[in-house]
Amino acid sequence: MNSHRVRERGTRTTARTGIARGTGRAHSKAILLGEHTVVHGTPAIAFPVPALSVSAIAWRGRPVTIPQPTDSPAGLRFTAGNPLTADTEMSGPRVAVDEALRRWGLAEEVVEIVLDCGDIPPARGLGSSAACAGAAVRAVAELYGRSIDAETLYELVQCGEQVAHGRASGVDASAVLACGPIWFQQGAARPTRVGLDAVLVLADTGMPGATQHAVAAVRRTLDRNPVDAGRILDRATELVESAADDLEAGRVQPLGATLLDFQDLLTELGVSTPEIDTLVSAAVGAGAHGAKLTGAGLGGCVLALTDIGGAAAEVSAALRRAGAVQTWIVPVTSGQHPFPSRTRPERGTRQ
Ligand code: MEV
Repeated sequence: MNSHRVRERGTRTTARTGIARGTGRAHSKAILLGEHTVVHGTPAIAFPVPALSVSAIAWRGRPVTIPQPTDSPAGLRFTAGNPLTADTEMSGPRVAVDEALRRWGLAEEVVEIVLDCGDIPPARGLGSSAACAGAAVRAVAELYGRSIDAETLYELVQCGEQVAHGRASGVDASAVLACGPIWFQQGAARPTRVGLDAVLVLADTGMPGATQHAVAAVRRTLDRNPVDAGRILDRATELVESAADDLEAGRVQPLGATLLDFQDLLTELGVSTPEIDTLVSAAVGAGAHGAKLTGAGLGGCVLALTDIGGAAAEVSAALRRAGAVQTWIVPVTSGQHPFPSRTRPERGTRQ
C-alpha cells in the first residue's frame, strides 16, 4: 500500500439502512477529432461533457437489499473483488475496480457496485465505459476511505479501457476525468486553449458501435498498407494541429472544414456508416460549419460544430429529421478551464 496516496477517511453510512457505502461520479466525453489514429500515436482533442454523467454506489459484500439504479435502462450492477465470490463477467468497470482493490491490498474483499448511467447511452462513442469505471473506482475509494490522485485514477480507468477497447489510447480515460478540453497524445493529456464561443451538437445514430471491433478493423487496414498508413497518420496529425490552432484563435469556419476533412480520413479507415454519412450531410445542410463521427464509429454518434444561438437549434432539429434518435447541445466557451493535476500546463508548443 502506498501511504502517500492512500489515506484512511472512514466510510459513509446511510441513515436509512445503516449500510456503509461509497459514492462516485464521472462524466461523458466527446472527441473533437483524432479518434482511431490516436491509438497509433497521433494526437487527439477531446471535450468533457459534464451534462451527461454516471453515478456509482459501492457496498461491501453482497447486501440482501440495496437500492436499485433508477428506472434508466442504462443502470448496471456488478460484484468485484475476491474471484471466488465476484461475478465472472469481466467488464471494463469491473477490471478497474479489481485493480484498485488489488493495489490497496483488498483483493479478498467483495464489493457490490450499482451504476446509474443517467443519460449516457452505452456504446455510442461518448465514453460510457470509461465514465462507469471512473465513477465505480471513486465509489470504492470512498467506501474504503482511500484518496486517489488523478494519475492513479487515470491508470485504473485505463486498465478497464484496455479490456473494453482491445487496445485503448487513453484519450477516453483522460477526457472523462478532465474538467476542460484536452490535447492528448501517447498517454499524456494537457489542457488545450479555447478562444472560440460555439456549440457542439451531438447526435445519436441509434446504432450501437463496437469499439473493440472498430479499433481492430482500423489496425488491420493500417497494417495492410504501410505506405497508406504513413500518409493517413501524417494527415491526421496535420489536421489535429490545425484544429488546435483554429480552436485557440477562434476561427470557427476553418475548424469546421478540418472536422469534415477528418471525417474523410475516418471514412477511408472504414469506420463511417451510411447513417453517420446521412447525419453529417444533414448537419452541414442545416448550416453547421463541419461535422464528423465522434468516438469509435461503426454506429454511435455524430458531432456538428455550429454557431451559438438559433444555429445550434436548427442543426439539432435537422439531425433529428435525418434520423438521430437523440441530440445534445454542448457549449464550447472561450477562456481558461480548470484541469486535474495529471494534465500539464500548456507552454505554447505542442509535442
Ligand atoms: C474511442 O472513443 C476512441 C478510439 O480512438 C479508441 C481509443 O482511443 O482508445 C476509437
